[in-house]
Amino acid sequence: MIKGTRVVLIGTGFVGSSYAFAMLNQGVADELVLVDVNEAKAEGDAMDLNHGLAFASSYTKIWNGTYKDCRDADLVVLTAGANQKPGETRLDLIEKNARIFKTIVGQVMDADFKGIFLVATNPVDLLTHMTWKFSQLPSERVIGFGTILDTARLRYLIGEYFGVDTRNVHAYIMGEHGDSELPVWSHASIGGQRLHDLIKQSNGAYDVKDLDDIFIQVRDAAYEIINRKGATYYGIAMGLVRLTKAILHNEHSILTVSAHLTGEYGVEDCYIGVPAVVHRGGIKQVMNLTLTDLERQQFQQSAALLKNTLHPVLT
Ligand code: 2OP
Repeated sequence: MIKGTRVVLIGTGFVGSSYAFAMLNQGVADELVLVDVNEAKAEGDAMDLNHGLAFASSYTKIWNGTYKDCRDADLVVLTAGANQKPGETRLDLIEKNARIFKTIVGQVMDADFKGIFLVATNPVDLLTHMTWKFSQLPSERVIGFGTILDTARLRYLIGEYFGVDTRNVHAYIMGEHGDSELPVWSHASIGGQRLHDLIKQSNGAYDVKDLDDIFIQVRDAAYEIINRKGATYYGIAMGLVRLTKAILHNEHSILTVSAHLTGEYGVEDCYIGVPAVVHRGGIKQVMNLTLTDLERQQFQQSAALLKNTLHPVLT
């Protein structure tokens, strides 16, 4: 029998269940296993999703399982843990979620897991680092959701501002998935034209100062959504499915994941959001962009903040 692709999702809260729904709709994996501390919730989600199978474009085998199912999994997706309350930063969640992750990652590894970890819980860069430490897997097989969503938010807002399709916008957010992240304007382009040139040639139709406002909207997007509806989940879920596809379908896509740096951009031993090539083996290569002095400095400051926050929790 040919083995199909199996994804085990741990945590079926808002983000996890939205991810499962998007996975089913897009027919990404052959098997999707749902695990949650609240077993009834995982069971209910599996039932609910299976009732949608009649309307899906392809078949996905979905069930509520246990950690034992991780043994044959290609991917374990971690969305478990507490999320931000209004007024809380992502970094504020570290103590609570680090404890939860120690237990979860231990149980996954006890099941003899040999695949790739994909981490989405916040603070995502720090929890990805911990997952790597706790699992002792090679760093290319422990991937954080990084700034994929921030990058998508940036592309959306640039697209709206210039009146073009988001998918024709090339631009990255790098750094912490959080308040210290930065926009890489020096590499932003639309349809092959640099953003700064486009603004210069626009005879005042566009103003470079508006880019600051766009970035603030990106950086603060989660706070704005949490104030209105308590949590963010659809954007994250769709971004996670995009990353899942890039891995399972060996796409060699460039996505701004949280990857372990060993000297790139002058940063050592830190999981942080950078553009990287993602394929079936996990992270193939971190892109080494030539940043401006200011961007490089902001990136290094973001990395220093992450390292300083992680250090006391790890020791
Ligand atoms: C987000 O950016 C809260 O990290 C989550 O939507």
